[in-house]
Amino acid sequence: MDSTEDLEYPQIIFQYSNGFLVSKVMFTACELGVFDLLLESGQPLSLDVIAARLGTSIMGMERLLDACVGLKLLAVELRREGAFYRNTEISNIYLTKSSPKSQYHIMMYYSNTVYLCWHYLTDTVREGRNQYERAFGISSEDLFGAMYRSEEEMLKFLAGQNSIWSICGRDVLTAFDLSPFTQIYDLGGGGGALAQECVFLYPNCTVTVYDLPKVVQVAKERLVPSEERRIAFHEGDFFKDSIPEADLYILSKILHDWDDEKCGQLLAEVYKACRPGGGVLLVESLLRGDRSGPVETQLYSLNMLVQTEGKERTAAEYSELLGAAGFRDVRVRRTGKIYDAVLGRK
Ligand SMILES: C[S@@+](CC[C@H](N)C(=O)[O-])C[C@H]1O[C@@H](n2cnc3c(N)ncnc32)[C@H](O)[C@@H]1O
Repeated sequence: MDSTEDLEYPQIIFQYSNGFLVSKVMFTACELGVFDLLLESGQPLSLDVIAARLGTSIMGMERLLDACVGLKLLAVELRREGAFYRNTEISNIYLTKSSPKSQYHIMMYYSNTVYLCWHYLTDTVREGRNQYERAFGISSEDLFGAMYRSEEEMLKFLAGQNSIWSICGRDVLTAFDLSPFTQIYDLGGGGGALAQECVFLYPNCTVTVYDLPKVVQVAKERLVPSEERRIAFHEGDFFKDSIPEADLYILSKILHDWDDEKCGQLLAEVYKACRPGGGVLLVESLLRGDRSGPVETQLYSLNMLVQTEGKERTAAEYSELLGAAGFRDVRVRRTGKIYDAVLGRK
């Protein structure tokens, strides 16, 4: 219920209006390397030094740094010589490139790709389909062909997708005990971060990332260096090529890219390939049963409309898709974070 105070001064409306300004400040500070510079320097730096080292105007950098202070991404200390800035702890951990929990790559994907697509949100809602043609002048008949329109775009996407698993990978992979499954395929496993985490958590299993040939090549060459590689790769198109036999198939953020028909087609092939007693683990952001939230998932579902052919779904909708493909004993675990887990058995 709105309080009289909220109705007289609509704080929440102002916050929402400014939401994209906040995002862009954080993305820009990341892109310019503000957080990396302050981490590397190991001590607070003055405005002049930061602007000079990052090759920006002093006036522009001052506004950006002050906004980051307001957003608690930086802290400022006023000395006789002027203002000195340092990272806050949360920025050191999540916004610097070198941190093991870095979210830098997903920020760059949001800032340089998702942001441009969202410019056409009104058209998306009117037409009910993604906006690659308007945003980038390319046809989206082949969805991942459009998403991977250059190797750099693909790398940005895959590295961005990898980012979240340093934070949520353990939660989704331990939501169920996966130790009985020894041979695992991560279908559409992309940059390999979730698969690597899976081997770390279940050292007795083998995990193979199955993805489009060009993705596998980029993942091997640029994302999972051979000295750190604990996983195997398999090149294939899960809509056209056969899916190898295994005990468990992970489909992490796969079904949300596709409509019900394509999901049904893919799950039916997975069911055929799956060993009896095996299973399928869906990793997705689940909408509540009454679709009242979580708001992040509702926003992601809009993003699926802007960028893909899919949508976010409720646990009941995923259970229905799994059941229709033949899977039984479907169980759902909410992690309390962005991504949840659903396990079905053959
Ligand atoms: C949203 S990403 C999810 C990546 C990864 N599973 C994760 O959770 O970070 C979707 C993945 O599906 C892959 N993919 C899309 N179409 C595919 C197809 N026809 N065959 C195999 N992989 C495909 C993409 O290349 C991409 O890596």
